[in-house]
Amino acid sequence: MGARSGGQALSHQVTGAVPGRSAYPLYDEAALGLPNFWHPVAFSRRIGRKPRAVEVCGETVVLVRSEDGRVYGLLDRCPHRGIPLSMGRREFPGTLTCVYHGWTYDLATGRLLAALTDGPDSPICRSRGVAVRTFPVEERAGLVWVYPAEGEAPPIGPHVPPEFEAEDGVLAGRITEQVGDWRHAAEAGFDEGHAKYLHRRTLWKLFRFLPAWSSIEVQRSEDGRWLSRRVTRRVYQDDYPDVGRWPRRKPFWKVLEGEGKKSAARVSIRLPGVLRVDFRGPVLGNYTAWEFWVPTRLGRYRYLQFLTAQGGLPKRAMVRSWYWGYMRWGYHVRFNDQDTEVIRNMRTPPERLYRPDQSIVEWRRMCEEALAH
Ligand code: FES
Ligand SMILES: [Fe+2]
Repeated sequence: MGARSGGQALSHQVTGAVPGRSAYPLYDEAALGLPNFWHPVAFSRRIGRKPRAVEVCGETVVLVRSEDGRVYGLLDRCPHRGIPLSMGRREFPGTLTCVYHGWTYDLATGRLLAALTDGPDSPICRSRGVAVRTFPVEERAGLVWVYPAEGEAPPIGPHVPPEFEAEDGVLAGRITEQVGDWRHAAEAGFDEGHAKYLHRRTLWKLFRFLPAWSSIEVQRSEDGRWLSRRVTRRVYQDDYPDVGRWPRRKPFWKVLEGEGKKSAARVSIRLPGVLRVDFRGPVLGNYTAWEFWVPTRLGRYRYLQFLTAQGGLPKRAMVRSWYWGYMRWGYHVRFNDQDTEVIRNMRTPPERLYRPDQSIVEWRRMCEEALAH
């Protein structure tokens, strides 16, 4: 991916006095996300013969694995009297039967094939006009992906990170349902300022002394798909005129090292709400943490967190045991739950931005551009 080299630095100003988000009206309205993207919704292993309803971008989709092994998605609502099809039964291969009166739908086309309680000659079937809306569904990288917009779906390829399907790769993760606005969650992912305060005392950061403040540049990748933060200056301790020195103590190795530009992680974000954090660890080498925020319904989102790493068998085994032994609990649960708790409790707009919010502003701008096309 040429995403992380040679991109252009962006220089939009954060205007602290802007009330709300009126500069980005389409983004303001996108409470249900960007439906014209493929969205991951569940681990493949969780979708079997039993129908399961998932919400994505305001649509409720019933997912079913058919006898041919494929997963199909239908609107979770029977056209007859509006019963969720996820309550239905699997009477015949390749079909789903509504639990109320037995209307039976073809999984691939959504067409009504039989109305069991009206006999084989039911005119409602012969009319050929009754069908449930179907959704494009794909399985990639052990995940089920849904395209929730109307119209033909674009190829899924560019929507699945290549790291998810690398032959010598590991993928592990966690999927949870959260209360909050997906935009607040995505903004928190790319937010430059918060980690230095909110996450300062977590176990995950125990051996990484965080700066008090830093300067960054937000860059867009050459292909235009990613925004990345690049640190230009980090200050580990400083004197604040009215309150004094913060943080009070600085570990000795930072005293020796002084101010630097080094960062333990590189943070990038892309549409429709995908974050990648590239880490370089002394023991594990390179690995990447991923976050997807998929809006489900108003004020709720699905939070998908993954770890990917590539390497030979020993590295893969080490990464797996490290994930299940520490990272899942220390990072995906304890560390990221600090963010979900904040997001759940946000009351905005209005808002009053400050300099580090440049990262958020660039992300809003990127969404606005995409929504305008
Ligand atoms: S509501 Fe589905 S068959 Fe009647
Ligand atoms: Fe965070």
